[in-house]
Amino acid sequence: MVKSSTKIRVIIPAAGSGERLGGDLPKQYLPLGGKPVLTHVLEKFKDYPITVAISPDHEDLYRQASNDFDNTQFIAGGNTRKQSIYNALQSFSNLNSNDLILIHDAARPFVRADEIEAVIAKAAETGAATLASPLSATLFDSKTGETVDRSDKWAIQTPQVFRADWLLEAHKRFKDDDSFTDDSGLIRALGHEVALVRSGRHNFKITTMQDYDMAQTLINAQSRTITTMGYDIHAFAEGGDHVTLGGIKIPHSKGMNAHSDGDVILHALTDSILGAIGAGDIGTHFPPSDDQWKNADSAIFVKHALDLLQKHGGDLIHIDINLQCQAPKIAPHRDAMIENLSKLTGLSPSSIGLKATTLEGLGALGREEGIAAYVMTTIKS
Ligand code: CTP
Ligand code: MG
Repeated sequence: MVKSSTKIRVIIPAAGSGERLGGDLPKQYLPLGGKPVLTHVLEKFKDYPITVAISPDHEDLYRQASNDFDNTQFIAGGNTRKQSIYNALQSFSNLNSNDLILIHDAARPFVRADEIEAVIAKAAETGAATLASPLSATLFDSKTGETVDRSDKWAIQTPQVFRADWLLEAHKRFKDDDSFTDDSGLIRALGHEVALVRSGRHNFKITTMQDYDMAQTLINAQSRTITTMGYDIHAFAEGGDHVTLGGIKIPHSKGMNAHSDGDVILHALTDSILGAIGAGDIGTHFPPSDDQWKNADSAIFVKHALDLLQKHGGDLIHIDINLQCQAPKIAPHRDAMIENLSKLTGLSPSSIGLKATTLEGLGALGREEGIAAYVMTTIKS
């Protein structure tokens, strides 16, 4: 049991340059499933105050990665991981000796919530604990030419959790010793045991390009693809000389009877996107009773829905539109509409389907009383 008076502070060392991976960016800022690796890590520690050690050269990248969190602060890291953690420790005020410090690598995005809880609970009991994974490969020592017994061998991972006073003392005592590769080694050198809490190989640290490829494969396998739909219809109004469809003004003998610009495509698209995240419909966000949306440019609605989708970790990957429209003729404006939709959504034109059908004169739409749009979206989350 973790006492309710125990304070837990999280340190994320993220000041490395990722030399072994050799990417365009340090690995903690590389994209993984649409967001930086570091963002995945921050999401795992939402309940705790987090101090991230970063390289001052990467402050912009850090700000982008931590934009959605109000429980994070950053400090300048040092030349080694150990130094980065020491700098973070130095930045803490009011540390109590029974506070717990949790350290987790910025490049380990796959740690699970139950494992975080388990390692914290163990450290609350013993003073020091780390996640670790039992080795499963046959180990061969090329120096001795012998197979090494693997039965007692563990790969040490993070999170590692320690009593604050032990960790501070260890860092002070071994300040000039660069032989330590992690904090569990430091604590052991101080004479304390570090309990091992079993994890698995899923909690690997992205170190090489091969690890990054594997991380991407895992994230893709975890992601869902969903399809959603939206529908909208508007009647023509007497007067007016154009209708707006897909954000493009199309000359017509009648206008649209609508509160906003009456763009059925953008309205149906907005509803379709909102459907992906259970966020109600366009009227929930932009009530027709609210005068500020009178004659509004419907692009605002789509942008708002896309913002919400992004906050939920969703990614729009395809739009398919069916327009029911006896008149005006759509074909001459199709390219302009697709180009505009592409700008608005960030999708390439080849990911936007736009078909229009007349109603063969049947029903209200066939009698040219209005226009309707069905929009289906494909979304990855
Ligand atoms: N780290 C840090 N400060 C350093 C070096 C490393 O905060 N001076 C962080 C890294 O950003 C990473 C964690 O410590 O989150 C583990 O280190 P490692 O995997 O070695 O990352 P890098 O040092 O960035 O990679 P490389 O050794 O390949 O350059
Ligand atoms: Mg390193």
